[in-house]
Amino acid sequence: MLFPSLLLSAAASAGAAAAQGVSTYVNPAVPTGTPIPANYTGPLRPQVHYSPPTGFMNDPNGMFYLNGVFHLYYQYNPTGLGAGNQHWGHATSKDGYTWENQPIALFPPEEKQYVFSGSVVVDTNNTSGFFPNQTNGVVAIFTLARYNEDGSGGPQTQAIAYSHDEGYTFQYYAQNPVVDSTSSQFRDPKVIRFEDHWAMVVAYSQEFALGIFTSTDLKKWTWASNFTNHGLLGAQYECPNLVKMPVRDRESGEVVDEKYVITLSYFIGDFNGTHFNTLDAATRLTDFAKDNYAAQFFYGVEGNQISLGWASNWQYAQQVPTGNNEGWRSAMTLPRASYLTKAPRIGWTMVDEIYDTKSIMGDSLATKTMGNGSVTVDYADVASNALYIEANVTGIDVAKATSFSTLNLTFTSPSSGESLRSGFYFGGDNPFFVDRGQLRGFDNVFFTDKFSVADVYYDSSADKTASWRVQAVIDRSMYEPLTMVNVAARDLPAGAKVSVAVWALKSTWAGQANKQGTVVGNVTTTSKRHMIYEGVSRHNE
Ligand code: FRU
Repeated sequence: MLFPSLLLSAAASAGAAAAQGVSTYVNPAVPTGTPIPANYTGPLRPQVHYSPPTGFMNDPNGMFYLNGVFHLYYQYNPTGLGAGNQHWGHATSKDGYTWENQPIALFPPEEKQYVFSGSVVVDTNNTSGFFPNQTNGVVAIFTLARYNEDGSGGPQTQAIAYSHDEGYTFQYYAQNPVVDSTSSQFRDPKVIRFEDHWAMVVAYSQEFALGIFTSTDLKKWTWASNFTNHGLLGAQYECPNLVKMPVRDRESGEVVDEKYVITLSYFIGDFNGTHFNTLDAATRLTDFAKDNYAAQFFYGVEGNQISLGWASNWQYAQQVPTGNNEGWRSAMTLPRASYLTKAPRIGWTMVDEIYDTKSIMGDSLATKTMGNGSVTVDYADVASNALYIEANVTGIDVAKATSFSTLNLTFTSPSSGESLRSGFYFGGDNPFFVDRGQLRGFDNVFFTDKFSVADVYYDSSADKTASWRVQAVIDRSMYEPLTMVNVAARDLPAGAKVSVAVWALKSTWAGQANKQGTVVGNVTTTSKRHMIYEGVSRHNE
């Protein structure tokens, strides 16, 4: 994102006193040491997706998993409803869905130098020297972006900060930057552990290149190679990721190999610690619609790799009505668990599944096994307005599937007439579509309303019958809530079996609200944590 000017408003209030003694630049309007309280009951507030308490959020940052806790940091402007004044907000979760707001984790070190996107690693073996007596030391690696008085972009450099308390409070490294530069377009470092060293991918955004750097101590970095001009160039490269992923056999699900994946679009390849070599020349896309940007994988996850992304994009993130109506903007996608496999006919692909929803499942609203037919559920009484739906279609005689053979998933609001349509065609080119054009509430030229993507689910030279599955979660963000869902199978060849399940989802926020309906976040600051926070402040003075 290019920041044309700084958008500062005096929205936030508390915290001026707490800010005293913090030598990194802290805007008096930004609370330190305490989470920002918020109301999550508004009609536009998603109930099973993360959204910030107030203010503007963009990319997920620094995601890691340690001792049973997922940590999500995010690009956060606590003083406005558009980008600018970037901090790292912070939330934690044990299940990947129920997020507890934490105090802001990283503040701009100077008034006009913002904390842009980056990553976090756990320095188990104290390679950095920051953690003499710890195996749970946490280091954040991120971009510091300077802005000039006239609003133009100054240098973007890579910096680190370390945490002795598993990521709740951080201290800036005194000798930042760790990767210097004069470029105003050099950002978003993602670091992983590779055998005996650390490896970083970072974007030379407007040169369409990723730099790969290596380090033994997270402080001194050496350039190793570039990965340049791959895939869909678009306006610029941002937020690259590098992750090791299991390769699973499509039939048995067994892990048969492992490969690395670079995501921008995404590329599958081998990584030898310094160079990334793609397996083929293809550029693959994880999503075909619009609202998933800057996704990151959690550091420290074994097996299938878990990621989430920013469920918006720069074309309209700063205009969506949640800002004026409810005082916040942007949500994250749901967490996904991903692995690689070889799909019929199209070969290498990344399979994304919605991460285990067990902890948020509410009542079962419908289960039905049928051939052609339909299931309609009125979910007006579901307090969260959120549902999980799964449809499994098995025994599809692929030679007989036609372009009239469909599985449609349609949500409607009888009171307003709005609807959201989606569906799949089992014949022809196998398009899956989503149509949000029958929803009102937001009008913007970039708010594209129809998307479709080919979902090749069988290989006609090898498969006589095939199966297909869809998982869907719908969440609150409509003026008139959608209250009915219909799952309909039409013109499927004889023998096909469709199993449909519809579940209510529990609100992840409702249980955290106090009597006034306010979600206060984690204020159970232990004396230890408080001391560390104070200690950091004093140390920095
Ligand atoms: C991507 C991005 C990053 C940058 C951050 C700033 O959305 O533009 O490249 O670090 O947002 O908020």
